[in-house]
Amino acid sequence: MTLLARLRTDTRAAHRALEDDLGFLPGTITPARYESVLSAFLGFHEPLEEALTASITAHALPWELTAGEGRLTADLRALGWSPERIASLPRSSAPDVPPLPALIGTLYVVEGAKLGGRVITRWVRDELGPAPVSFFAADGDARRGFRRFGVMAEAVLPARDATAACEAANRCFARFQEWLAISRDVNDLKAPISWEARR
Ligand code: HEM
Repeated sequence: MTLLARLRTDTRAAHRALEDDLGFLPGTITPARYESVLSAFLGFHEPLEEALTASITAHALPWELTAGEGRLTADLRALGWSPERIASLPRSSAPDVPPLPALIGTLYVVEGAKLGGRVITRWVRDELGPAPVSFFAADGDARRGFRRFGVMAEAVLPARDATAACEAANRCFARFQEWLAISRDVNDLKAPISWEARR
């Protein structure tokens, strides 16, 4: 079994639990929910991406993380959020700079999420019309990028470390789920939605 296949199999339940928790499905997507999802993702991604970037450098990993944080900020700005409001959103605590197996496992979650992002983009467009979707739509061919990630990961990670990578991927999913529960409590979903009025 390839490393990617192993990661997929080992994290299937965690992905499903996160998806169920998010409950961001056709028929439930409103402008307010979309904004709350973007803001929760920003609070999670920003510190995570900083830690991952530091770890990529520390391990001289031949991988460039495409930052989602800038796109999340751009989408929220396009939805009428001020820089001050975005800055005041809660952020999760930054994880430690992970060792190589944990770096690979965590990158798997971040890179793999782009595959699901394509589906979410379609749903958002279907339900909300011309909404800003630069984060979920990402750039280029997500599947090709993901395959490239798999080849790189397989080349750098000794086979004996695959279990540690899977554990880290599961921890990342679990941390995301915890973060969603926290940010659901602190995000103000009743704040005015400026862009709905502009549609
Ligand atoms: C409403 C929320 C979500 C939906 C509907 C969703 C849906 C999907 C779908 C349809 C795929 C497979 C795409 C394909 O093979 O072309 C996928 C893959 C994936 N998603 Fe999600 N996803 C969601 C949220 C997330 C989140 C929040 C994360 C992580 C932070 C995530 C991580 C992943 C990963 C790692 C894969 C790759 C699985 C593999 O190894 O093939 N997903 N998702």
